[in-house]
Amino acid sequence: MGYSNGFISSLGYYEATAKTFSDICKKTSIPTKILKYYNSKNILPSGNDLDIICDKYEITEDYLKLKMGIIDYSLIEKLQYNAKKINEEIEKTNIKENKKFNDIKIVFDTDKGILYQGDCLDVMAGIQSDSIDMIFADPPFNLDKLYPSAMNDKIKEEEYIKWSESWIKECIRILKPGGSFFTWNLPQWNSRFSGLLHGRMTFRHWIATDIKYSMPIKGRLYPSHYSLLYYIKGEKANVFNADRMAAQVCPKCFFDIKDYGGHKHKMNPLGISLTDVWSDIPPVRHQKYKKREGSNELSIKLLDRIIELSTNENDVIFDPFGGAGTTYVVAEMKNRRWLGCEIDSCDIISDRFADLNDEKRYLNEIRSNYNNLFPPKIKTEREKRGLWTAESVKKKHEEKHSIKN
Ligand SMILES: C[S@@+](CC[C@H](N)C(=O)[O-])C[C@H]1O[C@@H](n2cnc3c(N)ncnc32)[C@H](O)[C@@H]1O
Repeated sequence: MGYSNGFISSLGYYEATAKTFSDICKKTSIPTKILKYYNSKNILPSGNDLDIICDKYEITEDYLKLKMGIIDYSLIEKLQYNAKKINEEIEKTNIKENKKFNDIKIVFDTDKGILYQGDCLDVMAGIQSDSIDMIFADPPFNLDKLYPSAMNDKIKEEEYIKWSESWIKECIRILKPGGSFFTWNLPQWNSRFSGLLHGRMTFRHWIATDIKYSMPIKGRLYPSHYSLLYYIKGEKANVFNADRMAAQVCPKCFFDIKDYGGHKHKMNPLGISLTDVWSDIPPVRHQKYKKREGSNELSIKLLDRIIELSTNENDVIFDPFGGAGTTYVVAEMKNRRWLGCEIDSCDIISDRFADLNDEKRYLNEIRSNYNNLFPPKIKTEREKRGLWTAESVKKKHEEKHSIKN
């Protein structure tokens, strides 16, 4: 992980050698350990370090920021003011890129979807602008994970962000106005991508999905949520159908887990509003249902919720990172059209489509628990135990009021 020496190059050095850092250290008295941190993490020095660097190297803070690519609003205003001049200079050095696209091939299709094998950038290059209703993207996390294709999942931080920007920009291009864009990643990366998305799309939510994804690390909080970024193209979403959730009850005694106090009669019998914290998504349904070791397959429950939230039947969904094909399988079962691609072998995805019975059963089971404050089985158990239901509290409330009147 790292950056391309933006910090040291702003001071006139081009190689991050021991000599470079010891030279800067001698001149500024800033310890080499701290100088290496500024350079490897691309962190803008602050406080006394910033003053002394600017003074000793006779540079300005803005120059340092420009060389390091750290553009904040005070600099943006200056860039905007000088945009014409700057653009003229940029144009002089602009080398026209001759984009070369690699071959992609259709490896599988159904009457609702098409799966390509190839790089997502090559696949997206062939998709018309403003044509997709919803995009869900779960890219590799740059975590040194061994994917079956042995692709490099630990590229330099800067390279990873650059690559991510290229596929995110393509996603924005192909999305319909009013279409929804979701990307699933670690907070570390999604916090970076929201910078790019702001100014190009409208922010809807940062959804925290409560799943523990690594071991506790000393000196850090236990990482316990994935981030699901949710943006739309344009001002208004074409579709927003949030499922309503059942009230949480103890699975053994069916008592409430949360105390709803005196507000029970006001509760919507269709369930509780979906929040931006999702605590009910399993890492994946069960080990025995995992379709591919190492593919980081997501739960059907997650994709069902996203697809339900943002699409109608027959809408077109695109997922650039196929993996084990969870998005495509859920789209197919929910009667949405879909487009997908996977750079690696697609056999697992096509094999998965050969028998969707088990997946359909699971999907039905999930869906039977939504849009009902107490799904039928739970309601029966609660009634047997004399516990409140939406209907019983409403009735009680009405009786109380008719007595008063
Ligand atoms: C995290 S997995 C996706 C898992 C998927 N969401 C699921 O539930 O099964 C990321 C996938 O993207 C694929 N991939 C990586 N780079 C790609 C690229 N440039 N184009 C297409 N697929 C790519 C990897 O091979 C891997 O299977």
